Amino acid sequence: MEFRVANPQDLPLIRELADQIFRAHRPGQHMADEFPYLYDHANAHHWYIAVQESAVVSMIGAMVWPATIAGAKTSVASMGSVATDPQWRRKGLSSHLLKLAQDCLVKERVRVALISGDLPLYWRFGARPIGRVRWYALDPSSSFAGKPSWFVRNIDDQADALIVARLYQSRATRFSRTLPQLEAMLKAQPLTQVEKGQKTALLVFDGPQPLAYLIVNDRPFNGQEPSRLLEWAGDPRAVLYGISGLEEGSRAGMRIPVLPEDLGLEGALKALKPVSQGPVSWLAKVMDGEGLAHDLWGLWHESGSILPQISEIAPDQYRLVVGDDTWAIDAAKLTEWIFQDTQSDRPRGLETIWPSPALWPEGLNYI
Ligand SMILES: CC(C)(COP(=O)(O)OP(=O)(O)OC[C@H]1O[C@@H](n2cnc3c(N)ncnc32)[C@H](O)[C@@H]1OP(=O)(O)O)[C@@H](O)C(=O)NCCC(=O)NCCS
Repeated sequence: MEFRVANPQDLPLIRELADQIFRAHRPGQHMADEFPYLYDHANAHHWYIAVQESAVVSMIGAMVWPATIAGAKTSVASMGSVATDPQWRRKGLSSHLLKLAQDCLVKERVRVALISGDLPLYWRFGARPIGRVRWYALDPSSSFAGKPSWFVRNIDDQADALIVARLYQSRATRFSRTLPQLEAMLKAQPLTQVEKGQKTALLVFDGPQPLAYLIVNDRPFNGQEPSRLLEWAGDPRAVLYGISGLEEGSRAGMRIPVLPEDLGLEGALKALKPVSQGPVSWLAKVMDGEGLAHDLWGLWHESGSILPQISEIAPDQYRLVVGDDTWAIDAAKLTEWIFQDTQSDRPRGLETIWPSPALWPEGLNYI
C-alpha cells in the first residue's frame, strides 16, 4: 500500500471513489460538480490517497483557506470527502491519511484543521467540537420591520459577487474567498445539494445602498427540517428584514445561529429566547500550536495581560505556559482551551482570547 499526496492524474480515480461512496443513491450527481474547487486539478496536491495496485482505495480532500480570526490572519484547512473503499475499511487507512494530511498541511503553514462529521476516527486524531452557537427559532408570526426605502431581491451569482464580497469582508472572522471562489460558491450552492433543501440567496438594499446579504437553506432534508440561515454579512436588522419577506412556510420555525461576535443580531432578536446552544457543526484540531500562537500574537497582546507561551515538545504534545503556571497537554486539549470557552479547566489568561474561529456554524464551504 502506498500513501501519498495526489497529483492531477489521480483526480479521475478520486472522483470515481467519491461518487461511488457519497453519491451511490443519487445517480447522475457528481461530487466534483458540487465542490468544484475541492475536486479541481489545481487542488490535487491537497488530496491524500492510499493506492493499491494503481487503484485509489482511501482518500482525504482538503481546501486551504487563509482565514481572519477577529482581525488576526492565519490559515486553516477544511478537510472532507474522507472515504475508504468498503473492502479496505477498518485497516487504519483513514487514520494514516489524516496524519499524512497534517504533516503536509503544517508545512504549508496551516494551523488549524476543520473537519466535517463527528466520527470517533476524528476524535482519535485529536479533533474536538469548538465554538458556541446560540440557535433561535422564529415563530410563524415573526416579522421584522425595515424602512420604507428598503427592498430585497435574489442574488445574481455572477453580477452580485462583488457586492457580496464587500459585505463579507466586513466580518472580523472569516475565510478568505477570492472573487472566483465566491462566484463558484454562489453558483454551486454545495450545501444545498448535500442537505437536499432549496438555497435562497438574498440581498437587502436601502435604495442603491447594499445593506446585507443572507443565504438560507430552505426546508432542508426534503422538507423534514426547519429552514436555516446559513450565512450572512452586513446589517443584522436588514438580514431579519430579508427573512421576513420569505413565504410563511420557509419562515416557520426558521433556525438562526448567533455566534458570540454577532451581538447586533442577538440584539435584534432580543424578543426571542434561544432554543438551544452548542458548538459549531464540525470539529477542529490545532495542527500547529506554535504557528497558531505566532499568528494570534497580536490578538492576544491586545486583549490579554498575561501572554500564553506554546511550545511543541513532541508531535501533537505541547507545553503551555500562562504566567507562573505550566501545563503539558495534547493537541485536543489545546484546541479546546483555545477555541471552546465552556471548558471549566481552561486556564485564566486564555479566557481573554476571543473564542473563535466560530467562522460559519454551518458547513465549511469547501467549494
Ligand atoms: C469513515 C471511513 C472513511 C473510515 O475509513 P477507514 O479506512 O476504515 O478508517 P480506519 O481504518 O482508520 O478507522 C476505522 C475504524 O477501524 C478501526 N481499525 C483501524 N485499524 C484496524 C485494524 N487493523 N483492525 C481492526 N480495526 C481497525 C479503527 O479503530 C476505527 O474504529 P472506529 O470505528 O472506532 O472509528 C470509512 O468507513 C468510509 O469510507 N465510510 C463512508 C464514508 C464516510 O462516512 N465518510 C466520512 C464522512 S464524515
